[in-house]
Amino acid sequence: MVKDQERLIAAAPAFQRALSDWYRLNARVLPWRTSPSLYQTVVSEFMLQQTQVKTVLPYLARWLVELPDFAALAAAPEARVLKLWEGLGYYSRARNLHRLAQIIAALPAPPRTPAEWRELPGVGPYTAAAITSISFAAPAACVDGNVVRILARLTADATPYRDSASASKAFTPLAEALLPAAHPGDHNQAMMELGATVCFRQNPLCLTCPVCEFCAAGRQGDPEAYPRLAPKKMEQLSVTRVWSERKGSLLLHLTAAGARRFANMHELPTAEQAGLTETQVTRGKLLAKKRRGITRYQITESIYAAAPRGKLKPGLVRVPLAQLDTLTLSGPHRRWVKEILASK
Ligand code: ADE
Repeated sequence: MVKDQERLIAAAPAFQRALSDWYRLNARVLPWRTSPSLYQTVVSEFMLQQTQVKTVLPYLARWLVELPDFAALAAAPEARVLKLWEGLGYYSRARNLHRLAQIIAALPAPPRTPAEWRELPGVGPYTAAAITSISFAAPAACVDGNVVRILARLTADATPYRDSASASKAFTPLAEALLPAAHPGDHNQAMMELGATVCFRQNPLCLTCPVCEFCAAGRQGDPEAYPRLAPKKMEQLSVTRVWSERKGSLLLHLTAAGARRFANMHELPTAEQAGLTETQVTRGKLLAKKRRGITRYQITESIYAAAPRGKLKPGLVRVPLAQLDTLTLSGPHRRWVKEILASK
């Protein structure tokens, strides 16, 4: 509510102090916090887009050993970059990060403002604010789903939002009004930390919340009612895939280098990629049925044993099973292949 917003903005200094006192004592020890460098901040923020901290940690550690700076990343072949990203998903992030490193490595000095960072591949408003506030103390507020949840509760904002992007946009002025001039990067990370460890979507820990005295929804006793987001509309998709194992090799589809999605990555081929009709494939034995969600799609993948004949269609490769580990497969495909091989 507007009144609650005004009250919160008027109390901004006290709010900032309560949050930063709590953060200093309670922040998780994370590698990009203990020894921050611009490169580490950029890589971790890319990995943290759509991925949880605990998943990112081992990937980040390995990445920083293999590709320790912008120059090393810029010079690496794309296949190596994708291999290091394998299992994190949303591979366009890896390709964008690779291109970004090539741009930065060619500049005399990295840019320092959010507007300049937003021009770079894969950098949206959130990532630009995170990178520049953490690395250059830029006065830019990070607003993602977690921060929206906190701000909507603090102000008991009952506005219905179409989706998380429009809610983020609507809450940006309030997030900026609450941002302190000193250490904006710490404030942003404290907000992220509050969202990740206290202000949960369900069962938030209001009793131990460091800013409960500022929270209108907490006072009303119904924090879970905020934010009011329209439920995501999910589209159902079905995909039929082919498992063709012959003489110790497996048939895979390698997406061409220039493709918009999955370029240079291997996957179990779809019926169409294998040159077979759905009916031909579904006559075979069903080996696995898997469901997964990607953005707004709920996908059911059915994998059948099949044996395409004749010359291989373009994009298809037969890979010796012993060499599977050296290729880049998307995370779910890697798991399915392992599971099916183990069940034989
Ligand atoms: N999510 C995105 N950026 C983050 C950061 N710097 N710390 C913790 N979680 C994050």
